[in-house]
Amino acid sequence: MPTSTVPSKGARTRRAFLKHTLAAGAAGASLSAVGADRVLPRRHDDSDDSQGALTKGDAALLRFAAAAEILESDFWIQYNELGGIQDAEVPDGFGNPAYTAKLALLDEDFAQYIHDNTDDEITHFTFLNAYLESHGAQPVDLESFRTLAGSKATGSSGKLRLTNLMQLTLDTSWWTRYRSDANNPDLDPTFVFPQAVPGLSKGTFTAIPRDNSDLSPDPHLQAIANTAAFHMPTIEQGGNSLYPSLAQRANSVEVLRILISIGPTETMHFQTWSDKAGAAVSPPLAPLVDPTNGLTFPDLTGGGETFQNNLIMPEPCPFLSRKLPKCSIIRPTETRGVATATLAFLTNMGLFAGQSQKFFKFMKDLAADADAAKRMED
Ligand SMILES: [Fe+2]
Repeated sequence: MPTSTVPSKGARTRRAFLKHTLAAGAAGASLSAVGADRVLPRRHDDSDDSQGALTKGDAALLRFAAAAEILESDFWIQYNELGGIQDAEVPDGFGNPAYTAKLALLDEDFAQYIHDNTDDEITHFTFLNAYLESHGAQPVDLESFRTLAGSKATGSSGKLRLTNLMQLTLDTSWWTRYRSDANNPDLDPTFVFPQAVPGLSKGTFTAIPRDNSDLSPDPHLQAIANTAAFHMPTIEQGGNSLYPSLAQRANSVEVLRILISIGPTETMHFQTWSDKAGAAVSPPLAPLVDPTNGLTFPDLTGGGETFQNNLIMPEPCPFLSRKLPKCSIIRPTETRGVATATLAFLTNMGLFAGQSQKFFKFMKDLAADADAAKRMED
């Protein structure tokens, strides 16, 4: 969506204040879980619709969401260092002009969108952790797992990372899942939605230049940018399903409010990035073959409704029952086991390649606690 290319740096004072204020509260938090049957007391009450206590289940739902947001923030910061806008809000790195130029061929506002998506994720985990802490629950701190080397290309801060953008295997079936008017994974759990870019699901690919040798040849660097353009919606459609799935098991109306207020921002990200992915499989950029590894981005023009490049709004599909009329919805939203499934989804895409067994154990425990949360009447 071509609009102004001028970064909107001026109107963010309040968000920056919130971020910095809450980050102070989140620092140095313990990783320990809350006791088995403990109902957590509120430390202060400045909200009219609070239920007055945070149950163990609600704390676990928010804690898993906070961990997911920390991990999202970590890889978005890597994108912002190389291909975004480095400023007071997202300060690390100093930009890689060649990579940024390739992203701009997908959309001239790509750098702005990376910056704003990064800023959003940082505020999500900072808020969730501060909310947990303000209700006597343990926030999530993943800093001890910051052990991965990131990009060595010009523009990278060189800091250690939690996530790995350089060995990705992407499931791009969300493309056809949201274009299908006949199948919904919640009703058809065995249905196989076709991949938009089959090559991305077969092998490992980098979404950022690993070092300056990745800056050429030209089609190789464009393929890296295109991989980013597919990785971004692949991740964000996960968040877009995660929040409504978790929300179904919240007890407190305020926790429900948090989950259904953050979730749609992931949906906004998803739709924005869906449009950029569309550019990667449309002329003039497509078709494209990476001469170094054969990764192919097809031109999906003429592929029918299942593949149509510009269908970035969800096609109506069956929902809850095929006896009911089709409905335009987020899918899937099955709540059982969603945290564990989300962790598996992120692990399978290679986002944690190189992480320690301690990291996976910690994340599995967080997911299991979230998946054990139940509404009180259930
Ligand atoms: Fe987020």
